[in-house]
Amino acid sequence: MLEKLDQLRAAQAEAVAGGGEKYAARHKKRGKLLARERIELLVDEGSAFLELMPLAGWGSDFATGASMVTGIGVVEGVECMIVANDPTVKGGASNPWTLKKAFRAAQIAQENRLPTINLVESGGADLPTQKEIFIPGGKLFRDLTRASADRRPTIALVFGNSTAGGAYVPGMSDYVVMVKEGAKVFLGGPPLVKMATGEESDDESLGGAEMHARTSGLADYLAVDEEDAIRIGRRIVARLNWRKGGSTPAPFAEPELDPDGLLDLVPSDLKEPFDPREVIRRVVDGPGPGNEVAFDEFKPLYGSSLVTGWARIHGWPVGILANAQGILFSQEAQKAAQFIQLANQVDTPLLFLHNTTGYMVGKEYEQGGIIKHGAQMINAVSNSTVPHVSVIMGASYGAGNYGMNGRAYDPRFLFTWPSAKSAVMGPQQLAGVMSIVARAAAEAKGQPYDEEGDAAMRAFVEAQIEEQSLPLFLSGMVYDDGVIDPRDTRTVLGICLSVIANQPVEGTSKFGVFRL
Ligand code: COA
Repeated sequence: MLEKLDQLRAAQAEAVAGGGEKYAARHKKRGKLLARERIELLVDEGSAFLELMPLAGWGSDFATGASMVTGIGVVEGVECMIVANDPTVKGGASNPWTLKKAFRAAQIAQENRLPTINLVESGGADLPTQKEIFIPGGKLFRDLTRASADRRPTIALVFGNSTAGGAYVPGMSDYVVMVKEGAKVFLGGPPLVKMATGEESDDESLGGAEMHARTSGLADYLAVDEEDAIRIGRRIVARLNWRKGGSTPAPFAEPELDPDGLLDLVPSDLKEPFDPREVIRRVVDGPGPGNEVAFDEFKPLYGSSLVTGWARIHGWPVGILANAQGILFSQEAQKAAQFIQLANQVDTPLLFLHNTTGYMVGKEYEQGGIIKHGAQMINAVSNSTVPHVSVIMGASYGAGNYGMNGRAYDPRFLFTWPSAKSAVMGPQQLAGVMSIVARAAAEAKGQPYDEEGDAAMRAFVEAQIEEQSLPLFLSGMVYDDGVIDPRDTRTVLGICLSVIANQPVEGTSKFGVFRL
């Protein structure tokens, strides 16, 4: 695990480096703050900033982090979604990964009812990949005005370039602050205007901060410099009269067991099972007044390959579903469906701890109705309305990923441990299936089977699937909200549950038809 954490830190360092030393130095020489420095000044001193999707774009042709820093930070005591362009990476231009990250940030802000603060300095669309971003990218501006209509304030602090389509970030925001001699907000710059109408102009008269503050009225506040813009941004949040709509946490005790133990719990060979209770006891609140037992296990004698039960994390109540032996059988699926309904009945958020190789296959299990039972679990997960948070600790394969509330099932947050692996099935199994299918196809055509070619294909496919199952790759694809150190799990979940409490938790009794 420590080796894997080193790899994770190296990838995170790439994201922090942004466009690299040369561009960072040039940016600083212009008297500007880096994206992360702007965030550090914006959030309350000593508060936690939960960075989200820092590895977006990892392993792609684009810089790790996708020219954007985003996360949840506390500003004047208010949990806000913060989205900052990184102008050291291709002028802060948005590429396909930036877009995925921005859409996900908007979804998190919407589902958890958070105000949004955009720290703007971007060259707009990454022009070489415009075909992938121009048309879907319009959603960014739509989301901003929908946030406003949803009574979730949006604030734009404009530090630099915000031109063409990008002008609609301040254009659609509720509050706009522009930095004097820094902000440049226009639909078309001087060359474009010259081409379009023949008019001679300059940056300042087309879109400077002074002009927007005194003449067009697009800027509500003129900041004398970047620090002043951040100060004004904080004052705007202070006046939002923000009240969280959810409940407050109970007093809590620290976990019974030391979180350091999480480092050597997951075997490097995921075929070896581990007991998720060992994880739970290091993550949930320890026993204390009002919480006499740290983890009250539900149905412990039935479907023992899935552990279910009730606990608290940082004083917030949660129901937990955690895979034990890896495989989900009919009993486990039915137990999960029942447990999810129970959590909905009492408005309790759910935590899914993944380590599953999927639902059991084979004649006995098919005849026993494994599809029906898996469908009951997926029905319950899909229609449940209490907030869900998923942590992929180990394996998350096949439909097990769906039943355990994988990314497609919209958990409020999904984090991955460095030990995780996720794919449609294991690499060996997948290569084996392809080999069996190819062999059968050759036989059907009456052709001899190329055994040497088969061995090479299997080795290639195995290596490829293995690589694509790993956390850095999956996080690069923005299939999670971040890869975390297992020892930070409790802190991260505590922040998530606090963020979730921006609105009330409301369960449902409305599910799809359960195939019984
Ligand atoms: N798409 C792709 N690459 C872009 C880009 C964009 N929209 N904007 C900037 N870049 C690249 C530059 O080519 C340069 O790459 P290089 O260093 O590998 O040569 C790098 O980002 C830095 O750009 P540079 O112009 O040196 O930075 P700057 O800080 O002096 O200026 C901008 C930044 C954004 C003001 C300027 O690059 C610009 O005007 N870009 C075009 C803006 C635009 O018209 N976008 C279309 C809007 S939809």
